Amino acid sequence: MDSLPTVYANRMGLSQVFQNLISNALKFTSDRKPQIKISSKDQGAFTLFEVTDNGVGIRKEDLPVVFEVFKRVAGSEQKDGTGLGLPICKRIVELHGGSMWIESESGKGTSIFFTLPKRSDV
Ligand SMILES: Nc1ncnc2c1ncn2[C@@H]1O[C@H](COP(=O)(O)OP(=O)(O)OP(=O)(O)O)[C@@H](O)[C@H]1O
Ligand SMILES: [Mg+2]
Repeated sequence: MDSLPTVYANRMGLSQVFQNLISNALKFTSDRKPQIKISSKDQGAFTLFEVTDNGVGIRKEDLPVVFEVFKRVAGSEQKDGTGLGLPICKRIVELHGGSMWIESESGKGTSIFFTLPKRSDV
């Protein structure tokens, strides 16, 4: 984990975002030793966060549905879950004025990115 900045956000909402993303990274591991990296980048008016894992990854054709409610993709049937984590995360981030997207390569790993607007008056 990088040293992460202090942000202005709803405490419960943002901890739910990190909990969901970290629990996904811990759940969808491959047979490699799991590595999860949380980092951030200053983008001026926004902070960009990234949670990257080296887990099973997601097939290109499955990527468009992972932010839809109750959608779980190939291979996830054996793992607990309802398919609500990512849609809730995206909604929370969007309610803060940010956005969330995913990049993944099957068999290699997954990166979730999200931005949060900075506030100059805090
Ligand atoms: N880090 C990841 N690596 C591989 N696949 C992932 C990852 N994160 C999400 N997915 C895929 O996207 C689907 C949707 O994720 P989401 O967090 O919404 O649901 P879930 O984890 O299955 O259930 P819940 O979060 O409700 O417990 C997952 O079922 C899984 O197939
Ligand atoms: Mg989840």
